[in-house]
Amino acid sequence: MKAKRIDGKAISDTIKAEAQQQAQNLQRQGIVPCLAVVLVGEDAASQIYVRNKEKACALVGITSKMYTLPQDTTEQALLTLIAQLNTDNSVNGVLVQLPLPAHINEEKVILAVSPQKDVDCFHPYNVGLLHTDKKGFLPCTPAGVLELITRSGYEIAGKHCVVIGRSHNVGKPTAMLLLQHDATVTICHSKTKNLKEICKQADIIVSAVGKLHMVTADMVKAGAVVIDVGMNRDEHGKLCGDVDFDAVCEVAGAVSPVPGGVGLMTVAMLMQNCITAAKLQNGI
Ligand code: GUN
Repeated sequence: MKAKRIDGKAISDTIKAEAQQQAQNLQRQGIVPCLAVVLVGEDAASQIYVRNKEKACALVGITSKMYTLPQDTTEQALLTLIAQLNTDNSVNGVLVQLPLPAHINEEKVILAVSPQKDVDCFHPYNVGLLHTDKKGFLPCTPAGVLELITRSGYEIAGKHCVVIGRSHNVGKPTAMLLLQHDATVTICHSKTKNLKEICKQADIIVSAVGKLHMVTADMVKAGAVVIDVGMNRDEHGKLCGDVDFDAVCEVAGAVSPVPGGVGLMTVAMLMQNCITAAKLQNGI
């Protein structure tokens, strides 16, 4: 069997085109959505991610304001900037790229972003809304995972979904969103016993671990959908996910590749959240 390759490029392009349409509608009402992006330090991966977010904003028709701060920026200086962006009416979304330098308390920074401008959906207020099935921002990567599944034509309701990984930003919120869509969800992690047997029962596997070749063909049921959230480098420095892609493709029904899968979706869903923020702040 040869699995369908889930096309994150095509799906993310569609979502960005939808966001562009909505941005144009807002512009006709005199509203130009605006995202402020804050990057502290010179982490190479973060610089690439931030550049991709700026590019997507330009494509969709969202103004992006970039704030690049030096590595030795104090926590207080960062909190002061966030406070300014929170009260700046021309800014709809505030995103502080993670990870932050070790001397800055990440939790304090997340709490400082106004929940109404929290387009990452990292603030505990927005996490609470998600966990109680209330309307609000959706966390970008988890929402991207769901769009990959549903826009590829796969049903979620009633399916057994196994999420591997329990991180605050990916594993847990992905499990919560799948549950909200009526899946039966199992969350696995580093202390899980019988991981292979549990995965083998899954209709849908989402791997968000960050470990090369974590998901092997013998863990996958014939015809299952496998979504790879991993971002790893192999021994040649090549970008790879958690899934042993070629081998799993022989068993699975569909697999999302890395690159070309979830990563692109994170940025597309961020665009969607920026539009949502602009609408909410303008009473639309
Ligand atoms: N670092 C890695 N992914 C993300 C993300 O989605 N948002 C932010 N703010 N930082 C990140």
